Amino acid sequence: ALLLLPKLSHCNHVSVLSPQICKKDFEGFKKLFHRFLQVKGPSVEWPKINRPPEDSIQPYEKIREKGLPENVANSLNKLVVVKLNGGLGTSMGCKGPKSLISVRNENTFLDLTVQQIEHLNKTYNTDVPLVLMNSFNTDEDTRKILQKYTHHRVKIHTFNQSRYPRINKESLLPVAKDMGLVGESADGWYPPGHGDIYASFYNSGLLEQLIAEGKEYIFVSNIDNLGATVDLHILNHLVSQPNGKRCEFIMEVTDKTRADVKGGTLIQYEGKLRLLEIAQVPKAHVDEFKSVSKFKIFNTNNLWISLAAIKRLQEQNAMDMEIIVNPKTLNGGLNVIQLETAVGAAIKCFDNALGINVPRSRFLPVKTTSDLLLVMSNLYSLEAGSLTMSEKREFPTTPHVKLGSSFTKVQEYLIRFESIPDMLELDHLTVSGDVTFGKNVSLKGTVIIIANHGDRIDIPAGSMLENKIVSGNLRI
Ligand code: UTP
Repeated sequence: ALLLLPKLSHCNHVSVLSPQICKKDFEGFKKLFHRFLQVKGPSVEWPKINRPPEDSIQPYEKIREKGLPENVANSLNKLVVVKLNGGLGTSMGCKGPKSLISVRNENTFLDLTVQQIEHLNKTYNTDVPLVLMNSFNTDEDTRKILQKYTHHRVKIHTFNQSRYPRINKESLLPVAKDMGLVGESADGWYPPGHGDIYASFYNSGLLEQLIAEGKEYIFVSNIDNLGATVDLHILNHLVSQPNGKRCEFIMEVTDKTRADVKGGTLIQYEGKLRLLEIAQVPKAHVDEFKSVSKFKIFNTNNLWISLAAIKRLQEQNAMDMEIIVNPKTLNGGLNVIQLETAVGAAIKCFDNALGINVPRSRFLPVKTTSDLLLVMSNLYSLEAGSLTMSEKREFPTTPHVKLGSSFTKVQEYLIRFESIPDMLELDHLTVSGDVTFGKNVSLKGTVIIIANHGDRIDIPAGSMLENKIVSGNLRI
């Protein structure tokens, strides 16, 4: 199958696809594909799974109790913030990078990130840079936008993750017929998951450059997690470990609720902390995996990792992550697989790895327009790029919001709300069908609005709905 890959000499069209980069990508893919062919059976033996020992997942409060030293700036100057920016906004009906979707007061995910880091740098007089891991899907658009931050106090670097060929599910041959730079042939290629960060960061030369500049740790997170701000207590914990006990990897985990049953969890396996993803769980144990009582926490994908350790593991060829086989159906109906890895899966390779059980507020992902409605509403206030839950909300939990398929695309969702309703006292909102909201609507308690097929419901401006079910063809 590898021999049938498009020739590397076709690679010199675009700067991101220089022959050297294509060669590196090809080597990476070759290793992954060989590993995939060799793997037989599940990557974990269920009986060997143990609960992590007490001290391997520490409560955030314990880390915070220690307080902060006076020289916070020293620690901050060792830090690099990395955002995973390879993903598109397709699931919310947007073209282009997800990070460029507006989430609050016209600010995109990227704007908020830049504001947060700039605020840190100004407050502490530091030089924390931002690194974006782009993919071939997001690089061009992202780099165009970056010009707008030229005068901000944040140095921004980018590097590109790899570009691997999709494989025909039956024949295991690559489906790409060429380098896929235009139109439909681009379908033959994919970015191989965020686990690719280690190899791509190393290969880009940026990792080495940052080490040379005195940087020691990266804080990595999903760009769509608005709760993933730099936490000074966790940073302090990292940098204050004594030599010999240096913690090379911290995974922020948080308590699982019934809504998060699919998230990866931490286990103890063969004497090491390990990330267990649902894809690795044998069918017979999936319900057990989902149980909130047995596997209590899940991975937020907020990770703190030593740069020197990444360099060492890359150079020793010791970065080991389970392969996630992701099946897809292409537009023409062809079934393919793409081989991926997850950044957190490398936790087992690092010395003195630790989990920290953080408050839920550090996990605020925006995956759907229902999430978007929450972060656009008065439930949150925005300060220096960070969202915090409004003090006016009496309960610390966020309401449960379920918007129907007429709201899936951001454009349609925006048209359906003349203004974002007051949600300070909302517990649960379900909306289904052709529904629109006028200006200054207030929602309280449990509100369910269902317009049946062919019907339409317009919630008039200024209305207050409290514990109400609205259905049929109603204009209240
Ligand atoms: P995912 O698509 O993996 O998010 O992207 P998810 O839906 O939350 O899925 P899981 O359950 O966490 O895996 C998470 C982040 O990783 C980036 C995306 O842009 C997003 O910020 N990402 C994902 C990459 O940068 N490269 C990839 O190849 C995949």
